[in-house]
Amino acid sequence: VRRVTVELAPTYDVVVGPNALAELSAVCSGYRRAVVVTQQGIRDALGSRVDAAVGDAHVVTIGDGEAAKTLATVEAICRELADEGLLRGDVLVALGGGVVGDTAGLAAAVYHRGIDVVQTPTTLLGQVDAAIGGKTAVNLPEGKNLVGAFHQPVAVLADTATLETLPAVEFRSGLGEVAKYALMPEGRAIVDLLRLHTDRVLARDPDVLTDLVAECAAIKGALVARDPQERTGARATLNYGHTLAHALETNGLRSVGGSAIAHGEAVAIGLVFAVNLAHAMERVGLDTVDRVHGVVAGLGLPIAVPGDMSREDLLQVMKRDKKAKGGLTFVLPGPDGLEVVDDPPSRALDVAFASVEA
Ligand SMILES: NC(=O)c1ccc[n+]([C@@H]2O[C@H](COP(=O)([O-])OP(=O)(O)OC[C@H]3O[C@@H](n4cnc5c(N)ncnc54)[C@H](O)[C@@H]3O)[C@@H](O)[C@H]2O)c1
Repeated sequence: VRRVTVELAPTYDVVVGPNALAELSAVCSGYRRAVVVTQQGIRDALGSRVDAAVGDAHVVTIGDGEAAKTLATVEAICRELADEGLLRGDVLVALGGGVVGDTAGLAAAVYHRGIDVVQTPTTLLGQVDAAIGGKTAVNLPEGKNLVGAFHQPVAVLADTATLETLPAVEFRSGLGEVAKYALMPEGRAIVDLLRLHTDRVLARDPDVLTDLVAECAAIKGALVARDPQERTGARATLNYGHTLAHALETNGLRSVGGSAIAHGEAVAIGLVFAVNLAHAMERVGLDTVDRVHGVVAGLGLPIAVPGDMSREDLLQVMKRDKKAKGGLTFVLPGPDGLEVVDDPPSRALDVAFASVEA
C-alpha cells in the first residue's frame, strides 16, 4: 500500500494498493453512519469485494454514463439520504468511476450544506485524476459539468485490484491520462515505470499499477495543493493534450455513426498534437517529440486522428470553444516546462495537424 498526502488544510491521504478498499471500514469508523453511492454494474462486477467493504451500510444505486450526471440524480441521492436519516456529521462514500465520484461528490457538497465524502475510485481515470482534488459537477442540457462545487474528500481509497474487471476501453481511457502525467516535467518516475513494466501495466498487475497510480496521484495532489480552487493557473498544466482531445470527443459525439473516441485515446492524440505544435513553434527539440511518441505508442494508444474526422471539423469545434473562452488555448511544453499558450500561428497549427494525420 502506498499513501500520498494531499497537503491541504485539512490534509487527506490517497491510499493506493491492491486491497485499499479494506481500509473503508476504518475510515468510516469515526462516523455514526455511512451511505455508499455506486452503480449496479460495479456491484455486479466487483461482487463480494464490494459487499465486504460496504458491510451493512445503506447503498444508493445511480444510473450509468454522462446521462446520469444530472441535478435530478443529485436530488434522488439527497432524498435517499434524508430517508435514511443521514445527518451533517455522517459520511457519504462514492464507490465507482468519475461519474459516481462527480455526482455523489456534489450531493455530499450540498446535502445538509455539506457532509464528508470518501472517494473510492474503481476506474483508472478515477484513481489517477477524478477522485483527487475536490472538483464535483453534473451536466446540464446546455453543457458538461456546468453545475458543481469544490468539495475535497476526507480520504481517497484507490484499490488497484478493482481495475481487473474494468472494461478494456475504460482502462485505455485511464492510460491516456497516465501518459499525460508521464510527459509532465514531474513525470520522469512514471516514464521509468512504463519503460520497465509496460507488459505488466497492460496486464493490469495490481502491484505495478499501485506504483503507477501513486506516482500520478502524487503529481495531481501536489498541483491541487498549490491551487485548490483552480484560481492561480497551477492546475492548468493538467490540461496538457486536452484542447484537441476535447474537439475530438465533441466531434465523435456529433458525427452520426462516426468514431466514438474514448477520452484517454483523445488525450493521447492531443499530446502528440501539442508536442508537434510546440516543436513547430521552436519551443522543444525533436527529442521531446520522440519521447511523447514513445510513451503514447508504448501504451498502445493512438497517435493519429480517426480517418472520418477532418481538420476543418476539429478547427470548427475549437473555434466555437474559442468564442466561449476568448482564445484558442493550448498547454505546450517549452524551455520552462508546461505553459499556457494562446493563439499559436496557423502555420504551426498546420504542422501539428499534419503530425496527427488530420
Ligand atoms: N472531478 C474531476 O476532477 C474529474 C476529472 C476527470 C474526469 N471527470 C469526470 O469523470 C467522468 C468519467 O469517469 P470514468 O472514466 O471513470 O467513467 P465512468 O464513471 O462512467 O465509468 C466507466 C464505466 O465503468 C464501470 N466501472 C467502473 N468501475 C468498474 C470496475 N472496477 N469494474 C467494472 N466496471 C466498472 C462504470 O459503471 C461505467 O459503466 C466524466 O464525467 C468526467 O467529466 C472528473
